[in-house]
Amino acid sequence: MQNITRQKFLQSTALAGAALLLSSLESFAAEEKEKKLRVAIIGCGSVSNRYIPHLQRSSLIEIVSLCDIKYERALEQNKKYNVNAATYPHIDKLLAGVPFDMMITTTNMQVHGELNKQALLAGKNVWSEKPMANSYAEGKALLDLANSKGLRIWGAPAVVNSPQFAFMSKTIQEGKLGRPSSAHGQYGHTGPTWSAFFYEKGGGSMPDLGVYNMATLTGLLGPAKSVMAMTSIVNPERTVDDKGKIKVEAEDNAHILLEHDKGAISHVMCGFNFFDPHGHDAKGQTLHSIQIYGDAGNMRLIGYDWEPLGVMLDTSWTEPAKLYQESAEGYQWQEGATKIGESLVKGIEPRIAVEHALHVLEIIEAARASSATGKKIILQSSFKWPMV
Ligand SMILES: NC(=O)c1ccc[n+]([C@@H]2O[C@H](COP(=O)([O-])OP(=O)(O)OC[C@H]3O[C@@H](n4cnc5c(N)ncnc54)[C@H](O)[C@@H]3O)[C@@H](O)[C@H]2O)c1
Repeated sequence: MQNITRQKFLQSTALAGAALLLSSLESFAAEEKEKKLRVAIIGCGSVSNRYIPHLQRSSLIEIVSLCDIKYERALEQNKKYNVNAATYPHIDKLLAGVPFDMMITTTNMQVHGELNKQALLAGKNVWSEKPMANSYAEGKALLDLANSKGLRIWGAPAVVNSPQFAFMSKTIQEGKLGRPSSAHGQYGHTGPTWSAFFYEKGGGSMPDLGVYNMATLTGLLGPAKSVMAMTSIVNPERTVDDKGKIKVEAEDNAHILLEHDKGAISHVMCGFNFFDPHGHDAKGQTLHSIQIYGDAGNMRLIGYDWEPLGVMLDTSWTEPAKLYQESAEGYQWQEGATKIGESLVKGIEPRIAVEHALHVLEIIEAARASSATGKKIILQSSFKWPMV
């Protein structure tokens, strides 16, 4: 950690000669380097193309290792982004290799839980892509393990970091919508084409896509008390890059109802069979994907919650609805690992909370149980709310 402040450094260098300036600069740089959080990325596939450059832009983080069981991918990403990291073909070698402080898990969803556990057992903090485990029980055990070892674990997504989320949360908390009653969120596209795991058991449109809306709606309306859902498979066969023709085993279509406190009900719809001419990156989207109604006003989030483009707020019987928060001011959906890493260095508590990720994981599991049994499922988890 850094011992001298920038101000002291500048004061001392102003008084000293060129030799001192040079040595001070060197020691300052060394201290800055020491202060950096060393991270290792496991899983060098599609999403690592968003994570690596974002992490590289942070002055507080250094990527020291890259790992992938398809080892050539770790080598390729190391070269493509000029990372200059150590590379490994297996987590055992990664954990025994170059020391680091936090593991960033961006592998197939199904192995997140076991990899995160191994990292915690080896004394590493963890940022995990969603879901952080395959079940709520597995995720909760990871959190307990982290707590018992004085470590931290967090799970994606980072939607609560956007200024649009903050604006919507504040609007609700200030009572501008009156009593919040009903909300809807939707996210879908025609499905990833590169990897089979999205469609295999433990995959599905809920942990890949619905997870964003679940985080947003519970983040805005509070923890859900119960869940009812219907899920289905619309397209039973797919062709993907890594395995060719495959059978779809996980839901590619899901509707989830959430019961919040004080009578508020929200609905999430997500799927891999949603035609959207705006594509995966939602460029040029003018329609809303989130809507929230109260008895004194309503709000619509333009674009997706992970790529927000503005919020329409309507609270008047006579005036037209107004557009707010057209800029995301630096927020990017892939920022989770960077922001968490920076919060560890600075010693500040981030808005993203592991209990929230766990709550969303329990919702996904409950939605599957509800769809299978036709029953309403009561939830046990919660998180600190309101978030803004
Ligand atoms: N691709 C995106 O745009 C995107 C966006 C947001 C979140 N995500 C999430 O990121 C995660 C990865 O998605 P992706 O699209 O990058 O998938 P991908 O298939 O492109 O990459 C996953 C990589 O993980 C590697 N891997 C699998 N098991 C491993 C193990 N045990 N040890 C080391 N490496 C292993 C695979 O070889 C592969 O290279 C998923 O949780 C997904 O939901 C992806």
